[in-house]
Amino acid sequence: MARRRPIAAANWKMNLLRRDAEDYCRHIASDLGEPAAEVLIFPPATLLQTVAEGLTGTGVGVGGQDLHTAAEGAHTGDLSGVQLADVGCTWALCGHSERRKDHGESDSLVGRKALAANEHGLVPLICLGESDEERRAGRTFEVLERQLKAALETTPAAFELAYEPVWAIGTGATATPEIAQEAHAFLRQQLAKEVGKQRAQATRILYGGSVKPENAAELIAPEDIDGFLVGGASLDSTKFLAIIMACGASARV
Ligand code: PGA
Repeated sequence: MARRRPIAAANWKMNLLRRDAEDYCRHIASDLGEPAAEVLIFPPATLLQTVAEGLTGTGVGVGGQDLHTAAEGAHTGDLSGVQLADVGCTWALCGHSERRKDHGESDSLVGRKALAANEHGLVPLICLGESDEERRAGRTFEVLERQLKAALETTPAAFELAYEPVWAIGTGATATPEIAQEAHAFLRQQLAKEVGKQRAQATRILYGGSVKPENAAELIAPEDIDGFLVGGASLDSTKFLAIIMACGASARV
């Protein structure tokens, strides 16, 4: 079976200013070429428009880091899917562990956000993953199963997944390719139960957690790892380009 087209996604989190984003986009636009991997950037809200405009015509997709479930209304500080689409987004992150932790987002809210993304023409990249404590207690699969089930409860029509073990995010402690593959294979198996085998096979499951140019090639090798969601290393356009190329190389094997 042909390998799924990999995705290289940058999650800038609460980083970078306008001038940084302009320089970054110029670099990507001039050096990206026609990558074998699909490329996405999730800038903070203040930079969505800058990035969407700076990357026009490059094929790079832009997404919001979060969205509210409502289309509009009295929700101070939030952004809706309509607003994200209005500035050129085609994607939205849902359920990143930092949202779950900092903003108390529940498993079921993540599912409602994924559905809201779909309603406004956005593809949700649904993030899930166990904490260090859960892994040590041997509860990884139980947590992944619960998070996945809840996220798909609303039956979003289009979505992709990111497995991001919390203990590997921003810590430099990357999962080994074996650990990541085991979790991805489990997620694909669970996915088949939820949405059918064919769709499970077509879904891209990205790995996230301390991905950098030095470990990208070995992490993309296992068959169920379909790309990366990159935080820290994605803030440097040279490093992100290297990760994009490592993802792309896997598409040709
Ligand atoms: P990291 O973040 O690459 O800095 O570990 C990944 C993420 O949170 O998406």
